[in-house]
Amino acid sequence: MITMLDHPAISFTRMAIMSSIVVLLTVEMVARGFNFGVDALSMNYYMLSCPMAEGIVRDTVFRSLQDDPTLAGPLLRMHFHDCWIQGCDASILIDSTKDNTAEKDSPANLSLRGYEVIDGAKDELEKQCPGVVSCTDIVAMVARDAVFLTGGPIYDIPKGRKDGRRSRIEDTINLPFPTFNSSELTRVFGGRGFTIQEMVALSGAHTLGVARCSSFKNRLSSADPSMDSDFAKTLSKTCSGGDTAEQPLDATRNSFDNLYFIALQRKAGVLFSDQTLFSSPWTQGVVNGYAMNQAMFFLDFQQAMLKMSVLDVKEGPSGEVRKDCRKIN
Ligand code: HEM
Ligand SMILES: *[C@@H]1O[C@H](CO)[C@@H](O)[C@H](O)[C@H]1NC(C)=O
Ligand SMILES: *[C@@H]1O[C@H](CO)[C@@H](O)[C@H](O)[C@H]1NC(C)=O
Repeated sequence: MITMLDHPAISFTRMAIMSSIVVLLTVEMVARGFNFGVDALSMNYYMLSCPMAEGIVRDTVFRSLQDDPTLAGPLLRMHFHDCWIQGCDASILIDSTKDNTAEKDSPANLSLRGYEVIDGAKDELEKQCPGVVSCTDIVAMVARDAVFLTGGPIYDIPKGRKDGRRSRIEDTINLPFPTFNSSELTRVFGGRGFTIQEMVALSGAHTLGVARCSSFKNRLSSADPSMDSDFAKTLSKTCSGGDTAEQPLDATRNSFDNLYFIALQRKAGVLFSDQTLFSSPWTQGVVNGYAMNQAMFFLDFQQAMLKMSVLDVKEGPSGEVRKDCRKIN
C-alpha cells in the first residue's frame, strides 16, 4: 500500500501541482475582475492584501506532515469541529481563561491536536501581512491542503471568513456522537442543510486518522451482527491498551483514499456511526458507490467540504481577524 508521505517524490509532485494550480486560478481571477463586495467571501479574497497567503499555509502544512504524517487526520477534523459549532469562526482555537471554559476543553474535543500548525502558519502570515488573514480561513485552508497532500482531491475554497468572539464548552454538545445511528446522523446533518449523500461523503474523512478506544468500546460489550467477528477481536485487542489506545479508522491512516468505504462493506468500520452507514438501506447505496468508484467519492467529498467550509460564516463586522488565534482581540 502506498502511503503518500512515505514517498517524498510523490509529495513533492503534489506540491508542484498545487503551485501551478494556484497560478492558474489567480490568472483566471484577474481575468474575471472584481465583482464582489468588500466583505463577501471570494476565491481571490487575499489576492491584493496577502497574495502569498495560500502558499504560506501550504508550505506550513507540507513541512508539518513531513515531520509528523499523523497530523493530517486531526487537522482535517479541526475544520469540521470549527464549522459545526457556531459556524466556521475559529472558535475551536480559543484557549480557556479563568472566566470561560472554551470548546477545546470539552471531552468532545476528543484528542484534537495540531493547534501549533495553525499558530505556525499564523505567525508567518502576520509577518508578511499583519492583521489580514483570519484564523478560520487558515483552519479551512490547512484542512484542504492536508486532504490533497495525503492523496485526496485538490480544490479551491472561498476565503474571507471572520473569526468569532465566543467559544464555550457547552456549545460542543451539538457535535454528532459516535453512537448515532443513520437516522440520527441524517437528522443532524439534514438540520445543517446536508443531503444524505453529502453526509456519507463527509464521513469519508474517516479515511484519515484514528479513534481512541473510548469512542468505540461500547460496541464490544455484546455481540454486534453488523461487525465482523475478527474485526471485533482487533478492536478488543486495541482496547486492552486502555481508553486512549488508538485504532486507525481504516487500513491506511495517513492516506486519503476510499478504503474506509471498502472497510464498511466488510463490516470493519471502527465507530458505530461509521458502520451504520452500511447497515442502513438509505445510505448503503452511497457507501457501495464510493467503495467502487474513488473518483466519485473525491468529487462528492470536495463539493461537500466546500459547503461545510462556508457554514454560518461571519462576514464584516460580525467577526474580526484575530491577531493571536488563541484569544479574541
Ligand atoms: C458523521 C458524523 C461524525 C461523527 C459521529 C464523528 C466522530 C468522530 C470520532 C468519535 C472520532 C474519534 C475521536 C477520538 O476517539 O479521538 C473521529 C475522528 C475523526 N474525524 Fe470524525 N466524526 C464525524 C464526521 C466527521 C467529519 C464530517 C469530518 C471531517 C470532514 C471528520 C473528521 C475526522 C477525522 C479526520 C478523524 C481522525 C482524527 C485523528 O486522527 O485524530 N469526522 N470522528
Ligand atoms: C481536551 O479536553 C480535555 C478535558 O476534557 C483536556 O484535558 C485536554 O487538555 C483538551 N485537549 C486539548 C488539546 O485542548
Ligand atoms: C435510531 O435511534 C433512535 C433513537 O435511539 C431511534 O428512535 C431510531 O429508531 C433508530 N433508528 C434506526 C434506524 O435504528
